[in-house]
Amino acid sequence: MLQLNPDLSDLVTDASNGLMDKLHANATITAAAPGRVNLIGEHIDYCDGFVMPFAIDRYIVISGCTNGSTQARITSAISEELVILDLTQLQEIAEPKWANYLRGVIRGFQDRGHSIPGFDAYILSSVPGGAGLSSSAALECATATFLEGLLDTVLDTKEKALLCQKAEHDFAGVPCGIMDQYASAFGKPNRLVMIDCKTGEPELIPFENPDLTVLISNTMVHHELSDGGYAIRRKHTEDGLAIIGKDSWRDVSTADVEASWEKLGDPVNRRARHVVSEISRTIRAATALTNNDFETLGALMAASHHSLRDDFEVSCEELDILVEIADKIGRNGGVIGARMTGGGFGGSTVTLCETNKAADIAATLADEYDKRTGFKPQIFASRPSRGAHLVV
Ligand code: GLA
Repeated sequence: MLQLNPDLSDLVTDASNGLMDKLHANATITAAAPGRVNLIGEHIDYCDGFVMPFAIDRYIVISGCTNGSTQARITSAISEELVILDLTQLQEIAEPKWANYLRGVIRGFQDRGHSIPGFDAYILSSVPGGAGLSSSAALECATATFLEGLLDTVLDTKEKALLCQKAEHDFAGVPCGIMDQYASAFGKPNRLVMIDCKTGEPELIPFENPDLTVLISNTMVHHELSDGGYAIRRKHTEDGLAIIGKDSWRDVSTADVEASWEKLGDPVNRRARHVVSEISRTIRAATALTNNDFETLGALMAASHHSLRDDFEVSCEELDILVEIADKIGRNGGVIGARMTGGGFGGSTVTLCETNKAADIAATLADEYDKRTGFKPQIFASRPSRGAHLVV
């Protein structure tokens, strides 16, 4: 039941073979960037909160070389289509949609004064798409890293992540926070990327206990609402902060939310309650993790899920079912905690569990979920992995 993570070295070989097969070119540059999973701290990266993601062992790989022209010729394993971008004209949003992430990142480099030479590239991915695991951030960060290789330059990691976030805002129309691009850019083996989203500073915190396993379970559903739903939630939090009359969610207490409850009105008051409580949960979760206090950590993950389900309303039936099954397996069955992860409205759950029981837990999750929904979830384990890098 537990799917294995494809080896990065195999992906790299397949990507350079793909470049040769499809574009008859020899790879001279290969970049890899991972997706992410978030342990806790959801929908608060755009609210000056704290978030605790890590880079997963699933990558987008781009292999390529210069082609002596002024065009980028890009193809991928996902779609047979050959995308040709004219690098002498600023790129605009166009079809196919996946190429907009590349257009946006190219624009970011051009805006910084870089002249990008024509190149051929082939893209391969082991990050499941539409699964709430940030395949889009992985594509942006892989593109940025590939361009660094092409231009023989290195951006400051924070600047690179922000450039990629802007590509997502301007070219994919998603007003996302900084979590996904930071996790993909800053990820390190055995480290969580705890981000203070107010200061924009990441802190790498150890996560190396071999007795702990993080299971990622993809519901295999992606509800339509997701696109507009994200922007609406973000707007609710902005409205809420303005009504409460503070400059930052970090200065808002539970008592402030309660005092403004009527004025905030529904659903903004519940959105506000989620933000304030999730910021506090994430800080407490970091302490619990450091102290190996798994009981507290599990309870915080459960409370996070309930708050996302009831107050922030970004969960869905399938996510709730996966979390319910994990909760039923419980501490005796080796589950420490489970919750939805990422933007929601479908996508994946994250289950923290004991390593020696992980395979059994995955089997139960798969069986019960299939029985209740008719979908076969994709389940795999991941340890914190290396962030975006050039493969040499
Ligand atoms: C998406 C966004 C992130 C973050 C999460 C929710 O993944 O890209 O910035 O807001 O949703 O935590």
